[in-house]
Amino acid sequence: PGPHRTQDRSAEALTADSPYDDAAHPRDISFRNTPDTDPDLPGNLAWGRKILERAKNSALGAATIAAHTLTTQAQLDHVMETAASANSKWRSLSGAQRGEVLRRVGAELSARRAELLEVMASEAGKTLDQGDPEVSELIDFANYYAQLAAELDEVDGARFIPARVTVVTPPWNFPVAIPGGSTLAALAAGSSVVLKPAGPAQRCGAVLAEAIWAALEASDISTDILQLVHMSEHELGEHLLTHKLTDRVILTGSFETAQLFRSFRKDLPLLAETSGKNAIIVTPSADLDLAVKDVVSSAFGHAGQKCSAASLVVLVGSVATSRRFHRQLVDAVNSLTVGYPTDPRTQMGPLIEAPGDKLQRGLTQLGPGENWVIKPYPLDDSRKLWSPGVRAGVQRGSEYHLTEYFGPVLGVMTAASLEEAVQVVNEIDYGLTSGLHSLNQDEITYWMENIHAGNLYVNRGITGAIVQRQPFGGWKKSAIGPGSKAGGPNYLVGLGSWEDAFVAL
Ligand code: ALA
Repeated sequence: PGPHRTQDRSAEALTADSPYDDAAHPRDISFRNTPDTDPDLPGNLAWGRKILERAKNSALGAATIAAHTLTTQAQLDHVMETAASANSKWRSLSGAQRGEVLRRVGAELSARRAELLEVMASEAGKTLDQGDPEVSELIDFANYYAQLAAELDEVDGARFIPARVTVVTPPWNFPVAIPGGSTLAALAAGSSVVLKPAGPAQRCGAVLAEAIWAALEASDISTDILQLVHMSEHELGEHLLTHKLTDRVILTGSFETAQLFRSFRKDLPLLAETSGKNAIIVTPSADLDLAVKDVVSSAFGHAGQKCSAASLVVLVGSVATSRRFHRQLVDAVNSLTVGYPTDPRTQMGPLIEAPGDKLQRGLTQLGPGENWVIKPYPLDDSRKLWSPGVRAGVQRGSEYHLTEYFGPVLGVMTAASLEEAVQVVNEIDYGLTSGLHSLNQDEITYWMENIHAGNLYVNRGITGAIVQRQPFGGWKKSAIGPGSKAGGPNYLVGLGSWEDAFVAL
């Protein structure tokens, strides 16, 4: 994202040396988005290929996992107590001082871009073109929350009281940006963090934690303020969430997981970004070439395993019968190269694991009135590699219309008017991202005023929110908690409490 300054990475080492040379890495106070790697530069192409070569046999993070695996409640108690006692000094720093440390984290993460890409490709199925903007987003979180931390000092009359221990339970689909963004927000807000990476992305979590610890050490801050834990959810998860020292929980996961967390403890102070079932509406005024490109990238990027992904496209009026639109959509989807991320030709990578019952239905069963425009197939025995699917004739109120599947399948619906298309989308229980392709200003205004979702995108794909410019978070069953958005100006204020002192003289 951001102003795409050309970045030739060919001279960069694949593993970090010290990023703390202040002359070489000036740390600005004002926030700027980190540029992605420009894949068209020949040097960067060679750099990327070297990363993928290493990813084939990568064991990054494995040793760290072993050192931080918990099996007993007593071990978990010790982790919580260590995090809480290390917090006394961290919370006593000003927000501006914590911000300085976060900028060091940002520099450390920048120096480790190659390592992060390697572990994402080897463990979490991320292709370089998906992983690279994710690393940029992670660095952006560090630098942006650094700035917000300093702003916590400047509020007139009210004092921000940090939580002591924040538990972070991220998903596997953005295996560094989401655990990293949540962790860095909580640290910026003066809390200690206990980070439990998702089961399929534990090595990614370990490499991330190593980078943050390195920056803490270089800043003379106790690394105990970030505790990394690996454990079985079923045995110790409930103990972690209900622990007396757990002040806040940041969850990114399904709505059902959020409900499960609440069943453990009703008054759990939970900030959750949950499920989505997102649609792009295309009207007859749209640039149809652009619409096809954005629908395909939003539906099949990272094999559709994003809460922000497009799972539906709603075609309005004449677009529903446009042969040109349909032919281009079919051609574009059929031409996606499916494979494993270590193969540089891969455009759509694997599922993180073989599909569960729900996704299996989404990939194989049609509802009433539906037909396969492109039928998905498993491409190898692992059942992780699927070709992309497109189903047409999805009916209002059907299972496909209303259910989040989290995989490489797109449903096509039709509507007689934009008003009807908006109703079709608003009938869904979730409201995370939503897209419109239209070149008519009245249509854009109507849609923006009437669609029920947190992140609205016009004439662009609906994944890949950009820190500060497009804060990310949903409505309805897509969010739980204060509703402040990740990467936005209000995110830190929900991570602590405010104390106002009124003195009558
Ligand atoms: N923040 C991620 C996106 O926008 C989930 O795609």
